[in-house]
Amino acid sequence: MSNGKTELLSPTPAGIACAAGLLSDGQLVGLPTETVYGLAGDATSDMACARIFEAKGRPRFNPLIVHLPSLDAVERIAILNDTARALAATFWPGPLTMVLPLRDGHGLSPLVTAGLETVAIRLPAHPLMRAVLDAFGGPIAAPSANPSGRISPTTAAHVLAGLDGRIAAVLDGGPCGVGLESTILAPSGSGTRLLREGGLPREAIEPLTGALISDTTPGKVQAPGQLSSHYAPQTPVLLNSRLTDPNAIHVSFGPGDADLSLSSSGDLIEAAAHLFSTLHAADALARARKAAAIHIAPIPDHGLGRAINDRLARAAAPR
Ligand code: TXA
Ligand code: MG
Repeated sequence: MSNGKTELLSPTPAGIACAAGLLSDGQLVGLPTETVYGLAGDATSDMACARIFEAKGRPRFNPLIVHLPSLDAVERIAILNDTARALAATFWPGPLTMVLPLRDGHGLSPLVTAGLETVAIRLPAHPLMRAVLDAFGGPIAAPSANPSGRISPTTAAHVLAGLDGRIAAVLDGGPCGVGLESTILAPSGSGTRLLREGGLPREAIEPLTGALISDTTPGKVQAPGQLSSHYAPQTPVLLNSRLTDPNAIHVSFGPGDADLSLSSSGDLIEAAAHLFSTLHAADALARARKAAAIHIAPIPDHGLGRAINDRLARAAAPR
C-alpha cells in the first residue's frame, strides 16, 4: 500500500510525466481510459502487479488486461490469427480487449496472466492513456480502478472514493466517454468467443467474425467480471421497475420523472456513459434519504443495452 495521500494529477504534460515516472518506480496510478478508469501498474513488475491485487482487495488472482500503444507492441507479446488481425485493424484503438496466445519472451509478470498461456490485450483510445503509454514505454496492466466487487469508476473522484490512500496518484481525465468496460473477445480458428459484453456492441463485431459464441456465464473461472455479484452499490438494487415505490430511489430510462435518469431521451450510448456515475449517485442518495432500495427502469436489450443489462444484473445479484 502506498503511504499517505493519493495525489490528483492534472491532465498536463507535467501530470503525464509524473504518472509515467510513478509507474517506472513500481507505483500504482489511476489512469483515465475511454471505457472506465484503470488501476495501472508496470505489467513487467511482479511487485507492481501484486500491489494491484492488494489495492483492489481482489479475492483471487484474476488475470489482468495489458494496455499497449501499438500493434507492433502487441506482436512482441502475443500471437494474432487472421480474425484477431481483422478485429485489431477495425476496432483498435478502442473499447475492445482480445485474449490471445502468449509469445515466447513476452516479459510480462506471471501475475498478469495468472499463469495462463493467453493474455488479454487492449489498445486504448483515450489521449491521456496513450500519452502515458508513450512516456512510460512499456506494457501497463490495469483492471478497473475500483475496490473488488464495487461500482467501476468513470471519474477521478470515483477512483479517489474507492482507493484514496491505497495508490500513489490519479490522473484526472474528466468523465469517461464510453462508460462501460471493454468488450472481451477470444478469437480462435474455430470461432470467436465473447467473454464479456462491453463498450463495443456485438452488432458491430459479428459482420467481421460471424456469430459470436457466448461464453459469459457468471461463475466460470476465466469468465471476466465473473463473480455474479459485482458492480454493486451498498443499497439493494431492483431491475425492470415501474418506479412506483415511494421508499425507493428511482432511476429512469427515457422520459418521465425520477430521482436520476440514465438518459431522458432513451439513448443507450448516453445511458452507458452515465451508468456507473448514476449508480454511485443513486447509492449516495439512498444513504442520504435512508431509502431501502434503488429501483431501475427496464433497458432495451440490444446494442450497448446488453452490456448495460449485464452490469445491472450483477449490481442486483444476491450478495
Ligand atoms: O475497459 C476495460 O477493460 C478496463 C480498462 C481499465 O481498460 N479494464 C478492466 O479490467 O475492466 P478488469 O481487470 O476489471 O477486467 C479484466 C477481465 C477480468 O475479469 C479477467 O478475468 C479477464 O479480463 N481476463 C484477463 N486475462 C484473461 C485471459 N487470459 N483469459 C480470459 N480472461 C481474461
Ligand atoms: Mg472490473
